[in-house]
Amino acid sequence: MTEDFLLQLPKAELHLHIEGTYEPELMFKIAERNGISLPYASVEDLRQAYNFKNLQEFLDIYYQGAATLMQPQDFYDLAWAYFHKAHAQGVVHAEIFFDPQTHTDRNIPFASIINGFHQACLDAQKVFGISSKLIMCFLRHLPESSALATLEQAIPHRDKIVAVGLDSSEVGHPPHDFVNVFAKAREAGFLTVAHAGEEGPAEYVWEALDLLKVSRIDHGNHSLDDQKLIAEIAARKIPLTVCPLSNQKLQVCPDLTKHPLRQMLESGLIATINSDDPAYFGGYIGDNYIAIQKALDLTEEEVLTLARNSVQASFLTAAEKENLLTKITEFILKNS
Ligand code: ADE
Ligand code: ZN
Repeated sequence: MTEDFLLQLPKAELHLHIEGTYEPELMFKIAERNGISLPYASVEDLRQAYNFKNLQEFLDIYYQGAATLMQPQDFYDLAWAYFHKAHAQGVVHAEIFFDPQTHTDRNIPFASIINGFHQACLDAQKVFGISSKLIMCFLRHLPESSALATLEQAIPHRDKIVAVGLDSSEVGHPPHDFVNVFAKAREAGFLTVAHAGEEGPAEYVWEALDLLKVSRIDHGNHSLDDQKLIAEIAARKIPLTVCPLSNQKLQVCPDLTKHPLRQMLESGLIATINSDDPAYFGGYIGDNYIAIQKALDLTEEEVLTLARNSVQASFLTAAEKENLLTKITEFILKNS
């Protein structure tokens, strides 16, 4: 299995924060046109700061970068740059997180954010043939009242958003704090997902399942601490969106040879590989496939299972999934 095989293998990306694809070069460009000065002398200087001991150290820098985005064009340019990278690494479908509160708290209109992202999604279908969906995440370090206000702002844009999610600082901000807003979101027709078990305990994964009624768990690493939970996730066929290079960079799993991915697969869980915040963690989705294949010495069969899982775990229709699974099969026939 060559690196090129892993890069070109058709795959879906299901755990990707669009603000986490903000490369320093683009950040400096957009900051300049918005008259914002960054507290770094250069692109290199900014990259030097990407040394994180934990999730919070990363989030502090990530929110600072995101605060340079102001105009619909900025949000478009950010997403468009991602689609270029995604296309180069075999992505045929992407389900993309965005964090509206990071922007609306700076008085950026919700419409500027969603319309910029949505236009890039339309163009990615036309230019690259990549299908995509948007997932609106609530920031769990903010109160539920703020999430409720954000949900209200999203209702007029219901057709452009497939699901709601929960991200940001996990420990101390359990899923049960967001039961009401998730119930309202489900009533309004949104699917739900949540980050759980990245730094937080297995208990948070239980809450995401039972209280927030999620269709997928984002990360889910700490699920493996609880045998009953593993059995439950397997029985309910709830996919996990796993992010190896993120886990390494944020010290969730500093040594990738000890990564729990194989254990997840062996436990019958529907694991998928994703990039989380690729501009900050040293690689896009194909790079994640390469790194984890090498670290765990994954077989071609295991890698293909991961790619097929990504399609099966998506929010596409059965017919759309069939179409992408066929693409994977055709790729294997041509390249094995
Ligand atoms: N926001 C962006 N990346 C995140 C992550 N890995 N965990 C929680 N919130 C995030
Ligand atoms: Zn994430």
